[in-house]
Amino acid sequence: HRHLLGMAGLQPFEIEDLLDRAEGEIATSRQDDKKKSVLKGRTQINLFFEASTRTQASFELAGKRLGADVMNMSVGNSSVKKGETLIDTAMTLNAMRPDILVVRHHAAGAVALLAQKVGCSVVNAGDGAHEHPTQALLDALTIRRHKGRIGGLTVAICGDVLHSRVARSNILALNALGARVRVVAPSTLLPAGIEQMSVEIFHRMEDGLAGADVVMMLRLQRERMAGAFVPSIREYFRYFGLDEAKLARAKPNALVMHPGPMNRGVEIASSVADGPQSVIEEQVEMGVAVRMAVMQALLPAQGSNG
Ligand code: CP
Repeated sequence: HRHLLGMAGLQPFEIEDLLDRAEGEIATSRQDDKKKSVLKGRTQINLFFEASTRTQASFELAGKRLGADVMNMSVGNSSVKKGETLIDTAMTLNAMRPDILVVRHHAAGAVALLAQKVGCSVVNAGDGAHEHPTQALLDALTIRRHKGRIGGLTVAICGDVLHSRVARSNILALNALGARVRVVAPSTLLPAGIEQMSVEIFHRMEDGLAGADVVMMLRLQRERMAGAFVPSIREYFRYFGLDEAKLARAKPNALVMHPGPMNRGVEIASSVADGPQSVIEEQVEMGVAVRMAVMQALLPAQGSNG
């Protein structure tokens, strides 16, 4: 594969291969000398049309730890502000001969469109409510390291599934790896067609969390709710916020996950986010390893590209 645009279409062995590669990169990030030279001479451009802390920082660090030259395109100060289109922006950067473009955009499908136009590898760092494949990989890696496997686990994905590319990519990846996937949400926060995605649907946290091995909370994306349905925070937390009482329905050693950024007191209580079952910080650490693995998998070995 030249691009990583989504988990859709990836075979289980390809996902496992990326997780195995990422496992090998964890040690690199934990040692004093974090620098490798496998991507020396390669140019990576991060092009983020939407805000990001974790994804952009970890892609930048991943590229630098592999020895690549990394450039962060500051979209806010770019000619996008003067009306330049996505494709013209991408073609302009493409003319500077990068080897890999890491792209986040608010429109579903925008990254795939861009990938058709440029001459380098493209990684989807999140496109609208469509996909966020490296998030699904780092989530799978975090689960696998704690539980030793993914197959047969029950994973409850809870909250604002409607607006969540993280949920979509995780449903695809976890199903491919043999997990039983549940979604737990009010019907107003579920996308049309969710029934076709091999998930069990629950509308009550108490039911959806019963016996779960992993509880994955999603951010309530109020900025994407155009006035139609904006639940009150107090009501939302009461029914769908993860607190200790609701978590007690899951298995005693269930993992608590959140892709970040968190709304504390909205979808998750601080006592749970910072509690003993939380692996939220570890998810962030795995993000660097996963992105190192993905970039090495996409870029051919040095010297073979003429
Ligand atoms: N999980 C995630 O994508 O976080 P950022 O938006 O901070 O990159």
